Amino acid sequence: CDKQDGKPPRQRLLVVANRLPVSAVRRGEDSWSLEISAGGLVSALLGVKEFEARWIGWAGVNVPDEVGQKALTEALAEKRCIPVFLDEEIVHQYYNGYCNNILWPLFHYLGLPQEDRLATTRSFQSQFAAYKKANQMFADVVNKHYEEGDVVWCHDYHLMFLPKCLKEHNRKMKVGWFLHTPFPSSEIHRTLPSRSELLRSVLAADLVGFHTYDYARHFVSACTRILGLEGTPEGVEDQGKLTRVAAFPIGIDSERFIRALKIPEVQVHIEELKERFKGRKVMLGVDRLDMIKGIPQKILAFEKFLEENPYWRDKVVLLQIAVPTRTDVPEYQKLTSQVHEIVGRINGRFGTLTTVPIHHLDRSLDFHALCALYAVTDVALVTSLRDGMNLVSYEFVACQDAKKGVLILSEFAGAAQSLGAGALLVNPWNITEVAKSIDRALNMEAEEREKRHRHNFLHVTTHTAQEWAETFVSELNDTVVEAELRIRQ
Ligand code: G6P
Repeated sequence: CDKQDGKPPRQRLLVVANRLPVSAVRRGEDSWSLEISAGGLVSALLGVKEFEARWIGWAGVNVPDEVGQKALTEALAEKRCIPVFLDEEIVHQYYNGYCNNILWPLFHYLGLPQEDRLATTRSFQSQFAAYKKANQMFADVVNKHYEEGDVVWCHDYHLMFLPKCLKEHNRKMKVGWFLHTPFPSSEIHRTLPSRSELLRSVLAADLVGFHTYDYARHFVSACTRILGLEGTPEGVEDQGKLTRVAAFPIGIDSERFIRALKIPEVQVHIEELKERFKGRKVMLGVDRLDMIKGIPQKILAFEKFLEENPYWRDKVVLLQIAVPTRTDVPEYQKLTSQVHEIVGRINGRFGTLTTVPIHHLDRSLDFHALCALYAVTDVALVTSLRDGMNLVSYEFVACQDAKKGVLILSEFAGAAQSLGAGALLVNPWNITEVAKSIDRALNMEAEEREKRHRHNFLHVTTHTAQEWAETFVSELNDTVVEAELRIRQ
């Protein structure tokens, strides 16, 4: 535990996630420059009340030499981060392969890769072996830094094997695991060749958390149907050992967005954007360029809307920010070309010599530019085919207290369960329905917009990332203490 200026030592929280919240660039043999990502999730996890947090993860760079590793470890220590070093082959098999080509699409209902069966089986085996090896490497770093009384919180589908590795090493360690993606129906999960091993490993944790009650329910039924274990209202029971399973819906640091809108630089930017799009309604999409986000479906729905509503053709613009991601995975490369092709076709069809209906950007925006864009938007379009939560919808709502724009939200995003009453919910596969919702949103009366916005704004500002992190960690602490008491009785 860390001593703070003579105060009693605080309990430590070890956050373990595939990625550290930094981007590291090597400047010389033993020098690194680090940029810390300042998002709400990061500050929530590093700022859990009463806890002194450390973050363990991969720095996203290959550092084969000891000098470089030592220098990076020292630089990261100042930021309360501890690196796990993964070589290129492991990254290829574990991160690009098992995590992003197998688990990610499967958990989002896109199924397993459809290559040649034999090749698939072989790659399953070697990728799963790399996955387990990488998880063991994370466990080795946790074990090295663990001190009695620490709470260990493992994150996401990259680290499903970690709870088992940790508990095998130290049964007394308090281990929680949280999934940031959906957990699919047991009928989908059961197609995965390593289905049982992964479930058993997750069950080694003391507390297992999901964004929604439905994901928790799917996980419990996968354990009962695939492993034959008993599901209880509390979680899953295996030979007298209970693993608590519950929903912990994440939020954002809404104050950070609300504060940003008051900064003069952001206000200037807002005015510039208003001037730039004067006379036109602004529709906005902000997504990682990922197949789960339903970007082609969104753009096709916008095309259908323009096709059926000629009146709007020169009065509305769709700004689509598509942040490149996982660019080494072939599926993501294909998606980029597909989106470019559709955008080009629609702009060719409905553009004029001076304007185009879609502005598509293959890059991220800095925080202030993003806030300004959210603030001037009339209609935000979130058309995820599946999404764990989707915090873009939360960020949009946080920035809309002046304008009270409309949120069109996929019913397959976790956020539909919390923002459903304020948003227009759509099935993103139904292009006609989405096109109709665009029409409805653009024509919505101020009174209805106000009412819908109020509902969502209240939710977004009261269910924050901070509260999410604190609830999970305190429940994890209590779960372990209760279990110990039960054993002693
Ligand atoms: C999702 C996952 C996160 C991941 C993020 C970015 O939100 O749940 O764990 O960090 O995507 O993906 P990347 O592969 O770039 O880390």
